[in-house]
Amino acid sequence: MSGNAEADGGVETTARGIETQTASENGGAPSVNARPIAEGLAGVVIAQSEICEVNGERGTLSYRGYDIGELACHATFEETVYLLWYGELPTENALRTFSANLAAEREIEETIWRILTALPCSVEPMDALRTAVSALSCSDADDGDRCLNSNIEKATRLVAKFPTIVANYYHHRQGEPPIHPDPTLSHAANFLHMLHGEHPTDMAARAMDMTMLLMAEHGFNASTFAARVTAATLSDIYSAITTAIGTLKGPLHGGANRRAMKMMLDIGDVDQVVPYIEEALARKERIMGFGHRVYKSAPDPRSAYLRGRLYELCAERGDFHLYELATAIAETVEAKKGLYPNVDFYAAPLLYLLGIPLDLFVAVFAISRIPGWSTHVMEQYARNRLIRPLSAYVGPKDRTYHPRHER
Ligand SMILES: CC(C)(COP(=O)(O)OP(=O)(O)OC[C@H]1O[C@@H](n2cnc3c(N)ncnc32)[C@H](O)[C@@H]1OP(=O)(O)O)[C@@H](O)C(=O)NCCC(=O)NCCS
Repeated sequence: MSGNAEADGGVETTARGIETQTASENGGAPSVNARPIAEGLAGVVIAQSEICEVNGERGTLSYRGYDIGELACHATFEETVYLLWYGELPTENALRTFSANLAAEREIEETIWRILTALPCSVEPMDALRTAVSALSCSDADDGDRCLNSNIEKATRLVAKFPTIVANYYHHRQGEPPIHPDPTLSHAANFLHMLHGEHPTDMAARAMDMTMLLMAEHGFNASTFAARVTAATLSDIYSAITTAIGTLKGPLHGGANRRAMKMMLDIGDVDQVVPYIEEALARKERIMGFGHRVYKSAPDPRSAYLRGRLYELCAERGDFHLYELATAIAETVEAKKGLYPNVDFYAAPLLYLLGIPLDLFVAVFAISRIPGWSTHVMEQYARNRLIRPLSAYVGPKDRTYHPRHER
């Protein structure tokens, strides 16, 4: 073999960096350029997983075999994190200990706080979160231990500290002092407390809890996949989660909830819904909060539960405007384009009613998804294989190098 053979799958890299692979070198399989291409990896199954089942045809979702509806109606966020990490629902005692351990890890150390407050206020919350998570690894010496218990300890720190980082970076941007976590409150209620400086109502805390629970995990979505790619190199969990945050930030992934809310505020009134959506579709714009890579033939099951919670929150406040507006948009987009709302659509007005500023919406998604990310990182370590797909080279070939003075 000429050139430098990479150690990741028998692909030969020539001196020009072009991968060459023939059928005979590849055990009889067609050469890379002759194979079908799965753009965006759509429909490609790349691993087995015991964490969650997303059924796009039936429109169902389960975590560790429990239907998302049952969990949304009966479980809490903490209970769900335990289920994801340990594979079983906790007993009463186990949940009490687990929740106390999480609550005890909420404070962020001085170094992290100094890094956050050194950032210019123009830095977006997701960028600040990514920076803080990356820095958290400094106070947790990576001993190269990839065992489950060690990673559950690290994941506990991450889940517990995400809300503190997000809420207090928000206060920093507002020129306000930080608000310390309250260990007597649940994870969801404490986040609202740190944001608003007061204990939330039971209804608000339950709505926050359910929103986080429903967003906690969703299979091999883009950010989780990105985290697994990093973990598969046997890099550490902090690096994997930092990767995931950067991936979630994009408008086609976590960034959709904020844009969905902006659209609702833009539309304003129910009687403006049809013309607004018709015009947007005529301009070939994407309606944020609609469509899904997996739920194509059935609705995203999470949206019904979020819609129900939105109704309850509106009822508590005696104002159904946002509920009616969101419902009208969903009906119009389904009628005109055949697209169903995804998790981001009804989560957006819910977060808005909970008083969460729009520029924190994506960060709230990250606070909710860190349990899923960390579970996948741990599963990746447990049955690891380097993730390394191929590409079909379509650039120029067989070019001759000319010395610089001859070009
Ligand atoms: C989620 C999403 C990226 C999935 O994309 P995908 O599976 O790759 O689907 P495609 O991008 O191939 O779209 C297929 C068709 O549906 C249309 N479509 C998909 N989502 C759309 C949306 N939200 N608004 C308008 N049209 C949409 C595309 O324009 C395309 O139409 P065409 O065949 O006429 O060109 C896509 O639905 C989207 O951009 N949604 C808006 C962003 C969003 O809400 N993201 C959160 C996801 S949980």
